[in-house]
This record gives sequence, C-alpha cells and structure tokens, in this order.
Amino acid sequence: MRHLPHPLLAALLLAGSLLAGADPAKDIPKFQGGDLQKYWMDACARCHGVNGNGRDNSGRPLPDAGFDFTDSRKANKKKDSDWIKVTLEGKDKMPAFKDKMSEADVAKMTTEIVRKFAAK
Ligand code: HEC
Repeated sequence: MRHLPHPLLAALLLAGSLLAGADPAKDIPKFQGGDLQKYWMDACARCHGVNGNGRDNSGRPLPDAGFDFTDSRKANKKKDSDWIKVTLEGKDKMPAFKDKMSEADVAKMTTEIVRKFAAK
C-alpha cells in the first residue's frame, strides 16, 4: 500500500485548492441577522477595509477595494439603489451577496453602514 498520493491526483488537488483560493468570497459566511457592523467586519472589511476606505489597519491600500466609501465627493454621486444592486448582484471582483443576505438586509447595510463611512 503506497501512502504518497499519485502525482496526477496531487496535481488535481493542488489545482483545486488554487481555484478555491481564487474565489475570495468562498469562505464568507451568510448574514445570520443581528449586528450589521459585525457582518461588515466578517464579510466586507477584507476588501473594503474596516473603515470603508479600502485600506488595511496599517493604512496600506487593499488590492481589491474598488471604491473609497470615505470619499464623500464620490460617494455622494452614488445612489443607495445602485449600491444595493452591486451588493446583491456583484460586479467584477465584487462578489454577489444575494445568496448571503436578503434585499432588506442589504438595504439596511447600505444606509446604516456603507453610507456612514463618508459622514465620519
Ligand atoms: C472580494 C472583495 C470584496 C468583498 C468581500 C466585498 N467587496 Fe464590495 N467591492 C469590491 C470591488 C473590487 C468593488 C468595485 C467593483 C467595480 O466597480 O468594478 C466593490 C464595489 C462595491 C460597491 C459599489 C461601490 C461603487 O463603485 O459605487 C458597494 C456598495 C460594495 N462593494 C459593498 C460591499 C459590501 C456591503 C460588502 C460586504 C457585504 C462588500 N462590498 C464585500 C470588492 C469586494
């Protein structure tokens, strides 16, 4: 009985884990209700930053931020309805959340969390 995996199987396993790693939303949990601020930390901050400015805790730009929510000049040009749609449907590197959050929760997230980053 050989204990080392067959080289082809090993290559397939590696390819599989690389593919899994390519989906940044794969390990994001569903919103279970309750604290939307906590859900921002669990589900959104990895890309958008804790403060919504697209930076990590050391102030370095995050690679997949896409938008600086603290830039009120830019944020004010965006409609809640557009932000809700992008969050539900996704856009390019922004994952869709329609399987993780209800539309009502996304709407709440938009007005109570995302919108407020610019006001701070
Ligand atoms: C894997 C990284 C990633 C995660 C996780 C993520 N986002 Fe995004 N988000 C992006 C990127 C990249 C964009 C820019 C998309 C584009 O316009 O090409 C974006 C765009 C957006 C926009 C639209 C901004 C604009 O251009 O007006 C909203 C709103 C948004 N995200 C909200 C959220 C919320 C809320 C969460 C958590 C529930 C979240 N995002 C999680 C990467 C992410």
